[in-house]
Amino acid sequence: MALWGGRFSTGPDEAFKQFNDSLPFDYQLAEQDIVGSVAWAGALKQVDVLSSDEHKKLVAALYELLDEVKADPQAVATSGAEDIHSHVEAALIEKVGDLAKKLHTGRSRNDQVATDFRLWCRDTAAHILTALGQLKGEFIALAERELGTILPGYTHLQRAQPLLFSHWCMAYVEMIERDESRLADAKARMNFCPLGSGALAGTAYPIDRQALAVGLGFTAATKNSLDAVSDRDFVVELLSCASISMIHLSRMSEDLIFYNSGEAGFIELADNVTSGSSLMPQKKNPDALELIRGKTGRVFGAFSAMMMTLKALPLAYNKDMQEDKEGLFDAMPTWLACIHMAQACIKGIKVNGDRTLAAAKGGHSNATELADYLVAKGIPFREGHHIVGVLVQMAIAQGNNLEDLSLEQFQSVHSIFAQDVYAVLEIDACIKARQALGGTSLEQVTVAVKDAKKKQQIT
Ligand code: ARG
Repeated sequence: MALWGGRFSTGPDEAFKQFNDSLPFDYQLAEQDIVGSVAWAGALKQVDVLSSDEHKKLVAALYELLDEVKADPQAVATSGAEDIHSHVEAALIEKVGDLAKKLHTGRSRNDQVATDFRLWCRDTAAHILTALGQLKGEFIALAERELGTILPGYTHLQRAQPLLFSHWCMAYVEMIERDESRLADAKARMNFCPLGSGALAGTAYPIDRQALAVGLGFTAATKNSLDAVSDRDFVVELLSCASISMIHLSRMSEDLIFYNSGEAGFIELADNVTSGSSLMPQKKNPDALELIRGKTGRVFGAFSAMMMTLKALPLAYNKDMQEDKEGLFDAMPTWLACIHMAQACIKGIKVNGDRTLAAAKGGHSNATELADYLVAKGIPFREGHHIVGVLVQMAIAQGNNLEDLSLEQFQSVHSIFAQDVYAVLEIDACIKARQALGGTSLEQVTVAVKDAKKKQQIT
């Protein structure tokens, strides 16, 4: 039975019904709708719309329904009702008859859906925060395992300066920490309760909205009924958090796909996150990482779709807003699955320290050290930069590294070079020099790992 119909002479076309119904996807709000309804029944009792006896019967039936829904959530999707709110009311009528028809007193589907959806988003944000914390833990563990392993660092995909592999790991820990803080912030901001805002103007019953909000685990009640039913910022924020986090995961994927390539050979991904080729027996493809990279587009698609849907929507509720759900219901489990998969990839990584070291030693990535050496001898950096450029050209011409040039060759470019030049060109020296806060020296990375572990224990 529809929740409306009195003012209509005919029912909806089948095609329109299919177009209009949201139950095929908003059945996922069943638990939240029932929990919200239990709270609303309590509020109605307090304002004497429901007697104690009626309240008891309704709440018992709602809890019964909650058990049924939890046992078989999919069954709800096919009941033929217009949306989850209609479904719950119809199911309640089946259980307690006409009494169920009192439950919608003073309430609108507009404040109802806004409340249900916020509850869903809040719970989902909590799950994702847990998963992000676990992923961060995996990066920290890898950093500890590979604390002193040397990795070539790149800019423009050209070898730039050597890094510690652990420094690479801790870079992603920084990103995840920001993702967590953004999500926690969005979660706190969405935690206000629209229930009792009515269709748009507020409810005409003297409901204690603050108590209602706190009872549902919200921080407080929303303060403006018109905004409360029209606002979907929480959906936009969640999708924005998801998009930014997915960008990080896709950059991680890209780094690792490259490190795992035959050409680089820096790491080997575990068998449990890779797949083979139907034709080429030798292949072991980084599918998990490629899918994370690919799904980033899908999550961002949901974010931009939501922004476009809301653009220029007049206040208050418009049916356009029903389009807020499918994208989010797809994006959130996708995001969660990608976080879990990223964790599995990081967990099984085997680093080939010989290959990373050899690559870091090549590519003249100690050239900056040479310029700094000249600076220490009193030559202005810009001039030193030029001198080293000439030496790099010389090394390239003879197919060697900078440290393979003879002292005579160094001195042929500038007489200030002495035997001590070779010590600064050693790869360990390049790493050791990065002692300022946030640098890649072992000391700095060790502090970063220690701090991250401490924070991890606190949160
Ligand atoms: N299914 C609707 C949605 O998801 C519920 C709210 C309907 N409100 C209304 N006035 N038609 O947005």
